[in-house]
Amino acid sequence: MINNARFITLEGSEGAGKTTALKTIKKILNIWGVDYICTREPGGEPNAEKIREILLHSEHLHAKTELLLMFAARNEHIENVIKPALNKGVWVVSDRFVDASYAYQGGGRELGYEVVKWMDDFIVGEVQADLTVLMDIEPEIGLQRIKSRGQADRIELEGIDFFHRLTKSYRDKAKLEPSKYAIIDASKSFKAVKLAIVSAFESKKQELM
Ligand SMILES: Nc1ncnc2c1ncn2[C@@H]1O[C@H](COP(=O)(O)OP(=O)(O)OP(=O)(O)O)[C@@H](O)[C@H]1O
Ligand SMILES: [Mg+2]
Repeated sequence: MINNARFITLEGSEGAGKTTALKTIKKILNIWGVDYICTREPGGEPNAEKIREILLHSEHLHAKTELLLMFAARNEHIENVIKPALNKGVWVVSDRFVDASYAYQGGGRELGYEVVKWMDDFIVGEVQADLTVLMDIEPEIGLQRIKSRGQADRIELEGIDFFHRLTKSYRDKAKLEPSKYAIIDASKSFKAVKLAIVSAFESKKQELM
C-alpha cells in the first residue's frame, strides 16, 4: 500500500464476467467517494498496448516469450500508470494483473508457479493488489458466453485442457492468501453476481478505507 490508495485487481478465465464486474465495482467506488482509475492488462498504456497486440495476435509465440512479454508490458503498466496513480492517492482498478500470469503462463502454458513467482518478485515486487476479485467459473461456461463475439484471439483458441489448468491455477493462487481475495461464483446470473460483488466489497470496506 502506498498512501491510503488501494489497488484492486479483477481476475478470471475468458468470459467469466470481469469487464461486467468492473461496472459494479465502479458504482461501489463512486458511492464510497473514492478517486480511482480503471485500467487493464495486458496493456493499460501505449507501450504495453503494443505488446498486447503481439501477445494476442501473433501467429505463434513460445511460452517463455509470452511470459516475458507479459511481464514487459506489466512493467510499463506499473511504472507509467499504477505507481504514479497510487503515489497521488488515486485508487487503481485493473482488469487482470499478475495472477493472470500464474494462471495463463504458469498453469495454462505449464511454465509452473516458481518461474512466475520469480518474475512476480522481480517486476511487481511491492506493488501487489490489496484486493483481488476472482471471477470463478468453469471454463466451459465462460467460453460459451464469448463464443458469439466473433474472431477469437490467439489465447481464446487454446484447447479446453489449457483453460482447466488456468482455472485451477487461479484457485490455487487464491488459496495461498485467502484474505486478499473475494472469490465470486461467476457462473450465477447477472443479478446474483452483482449482489455477491456488492456484499464482498461491503465486508472489505473497513479494511480498505
Ligand atoms: N453473470 C452472467 N451471466 C450471463 N452472462 C454473463 C454474465 N456476466 C457476463 N456475461 C456475458 O458474458 C460475456 C462476457 O462477459 P465479460 O466481457 O464481462 O467477461 P470478461 O471476463 O471480461 O471476458 P474476457 O475474458 O473476454 O475479457 C458478455 O457477453 C457478458 O454480457
Ligand atoms: Mg473483459
